[in-house]
Amino acid sequence: MDTLSTPSVEETMYMGSEEEEEEEEDEETNGSEEEDKDDSQTDQSSVGKQQRPAWAPCFFYRAGKEVYNYVGQEIIIQEALDSYAGMIWPAGLALCHYLDTHREQINLVDKAVLEIGAGTGLVSVVAALLGGWVTATDLPEVLNNLRVNLCRNTRGHCRHTPQVATLSWGYDLERTYPSSVYRYDYVLAADVVYHHDFLDELLVTMKHFCKPGTTLIWANKVRFESDLTFTENFKKAFNTSLLAEDGEMKIFMATSREGEECFSDVVLEDPLRQKEGRETKEVEDKDKKRKEAEIL
Ligand SMILES: C[S@@+](CC[C@H](N)C(=O)[O-])C[C@H]1O[C@@H](n2cnc3c(N)ncnc32)[C@H](O)[C@@H]1O
Repeated sequence: MDTLSTPSVEETMYMGSEEEEEEEEDEETNGSEEEDKDDSQTDQSSVGKQQRPAWAPCFFYRAGKEVYNYVGQEIIIQEALDSYAGMIWPAGLALCHYLDTHREQINLVDKAVLEIGAGTGLVSVVAALLGGWVTATDLPEVLNNLRVNLCRNTRGHCRHTPQVATLSWGYDLERTYPSSVYRYDYVLAADVVYHHDFLDELLVTMKHFCKPGTTLIWANKVRFESDLTFTENFKKAFNTSLLAEDGEMKIFMATSREGEECFSDVVLEDPLRQKEGRETKEVEDKDKKRKEAEIL
């Protein structure tokens, strides 16, 4: 398992608090004064360097848009302040960083990738830039912003043009996304577990798409007691491992348990297999008796 290590804030700008932003503005205004400071002052400031999590990105603000850098490319994200979907969440950033820095372990090239609860689409953009054949999904009312961000950042840069589609967790899944047709190599989910009433539907949705052969990657920042309950249920529903952790930020990988259930069902319930088992034992018993008789 990886820890999301902590480079110093000096390397890049990152998404900091309002206070820090104000300080930065002040610094810009007083730029020439700062340059005149002597070396001793510079040394002092570097002693008090802040630490930031590695997943906190190179980021700056440009006229209503946020600009990130992943997969060696500038990504411009337009946010909308009217819903959760309009903002970039910490687990989304952690997942982008993980995918970008673990390209061999999680090779998305030419893989079918589904993102659920895609929000602004940053994770889907990164997955598409990494070569995935991406479908970014969310509630119907937030798809416009998602579409704009995906289109703007992937056009002419991707092997496969990403798709945008409605997917309401737990709603009519077998009709809208029949399992026989919709098969994904990877399912991505970032910060989809927080204080909302659809946690059961979310798990049902994860199970619907995470079939044998699919890898589900779920990044989450733990905030509430209910997040821990969800995590327990998630671990019961899938074979899971923790890919990376940094305090409350966790990235899980999960695969289906369906094959295992099928296998144990067959052994326990298939009458033919049970009959075969009995017959094998009868043959072995007969063989044993014959050998005993030969010795006597
Ligand atoms: C906290 S935001 C995270 C957005 C993005 N993944 C990120 O990390 O920046 C949660 C996302 O889940 C979506 N969502 C919430 N409830 C949903 C539901 N019942 N069905 C589908 N999507 C839902 C929201 O619209 C939102 O985009």
